[in-house]
Amino acid sequence: MKEQHFFNRHVDFALTCLDKHESGKPFHPTLHQYFKSNRQFGSRDRKTIKNLCYNWFRLGYSFGKLSRKDQMVLSNLCITESVPEWMLGLFDVFVLPPSWIEWSLQNRLEFLEKHLEWNTNEVFPEMDKMSSEVNKEVFIPHLFKQPLVWFRCKNANEYDDVCKKLSDVTIKENKALGVSAGHLLDSSGVSKQIEIQDYSSQEVFKAINLDGVQSVWDCCCASGGKSLTLLDRTKSINICASDSRKSILSNFIKRTGRHRYRVWSAVVDLAKPISKIKFESKQNSVEKTAPGFDLVVADLPCSGSGTWNRNPEFKSASQHNVLKYRELQQQIVQNAWPFVKKGGRLLYTTCSVYKAENEDNLKSLNLDGMEVVNQGYVHGYEHDSDTMFYAELKKI
Ligand SMILES: C[S@@+](CC[C@H](N)C(=O)[O-])C[C@H]1O[C@@H](n2cnc3c(N)ncnc32)[C@H](O)[C@@H]1O
Repeated sequence: MKEQHFFNRHVDFALTCLDKHESGKPFHPTLHQYFKSNRQFGSRDRKTIKNLCYNWFRLGYSFGKLSRKDQMVLSNLCITESVPEWMLGLFDVFVLPPSWIEWSLQNRLEFLEKHLEWNTNEVFPEMDKMSSEVNKEVFIPHLFKQPLVWFRCKNANEYDDVCKKLSDVTIKENKALGVSAGHLLDSSGVSKQIEIQDYSSQEVFKAINLDGVQSVWDCCCASGGKSLTLLDRTKSINICASDSRKSILSNFIKRTGRHRYRVWSAVVDLAKPISKIKFESKQNSVEKTAPGFDLVVADLPCSGSGTWNRNPEFKSASQHNVLKYRELQQQIVQNAWPFVKKGGRLLYTTCSVYKAENEDNLKSLNLDGMEVVNQGYVHGYEHDSDTMFYAELKKI
């Protein structure tokens, strides 16, 4: 049959593409390169190959006893809602019942648990180390579908105008806006009015009281997502921002350009203790010694496990380095803490769901005058977004 033949060919292409991927690295560049060097594929071919690969990352890789090809075919049979009947015959390790095509994903997974010596928990690495605050019943199903792309308006006054221009947009109470991946935001004419930022990252600042905050240090700023949220929302603050990666700072400076009179930056490696920092802007420089800030934002490097629904390729990596991250997180917080003024606060955030990087790590911090005033998760898996942990630490 023609359809069957084409599908088999696509499975072979997808397997070739997966072979080119280096474990632990983002998959998107591999896919991009593969399509660039195989220009014969049309857009439907590309879509099928891409879906087959991502379904393998979402689910297939966990069927450890099967060949890669069977893993790919079976994960596709589980995740695809409307499966044509002929496709059932492509999986021949054991017989899938004809009623499969009408079953929900949950029914299909329950069937596999009985016939495959496999458990649904295997779709996420080290599930037993996940925080008990995370609701696994909801968390697991969210791993099988692509989350929304979230953004916010740069200028709150333009919110109504942006909403009007967009169709099929999800609107949250915190005014985060979400569209399905592949939505052509550019053609809606909103790209200059919005900042792409996950729902959870927007939500996390709600947990912290910004009254009276004037001086902020974003000590793991990357390209400035968190700084931009603060700058756009709160006109009274100035931000010093740093990261250990020099290469990312030019991005940061470009993105925060519209606030350039309120932003200074520096390269700072917080794995080591530091006594003073010289932050620079286009206009001038400021030297900061401890304690210099009302608020330190520590958006820490982490396993990223709360974002593995968006980037499922990281789940199948051979190493997850959670303990290495935990140590680095402790060093960064310890070295940043002296810069918090008395009565000031440090916002500890990760996009991890492992307790070792979050609540357990907090317990092992031994910082002068530290009081945990607020901690918890933004449960992104309930909102088609990433999951984050936050803790507000006050210096008393
Ligand atoms: C989770 S990302 C920050 C994301 C950013 N806040 C945002 O909203 O887009 C963590 C950042 O920590 C930085 N980092 C890693 N090790 C560091 C260190 N030793 N000192 C300072 N920053 C570090 C990384 O370069 C990375 O950009």
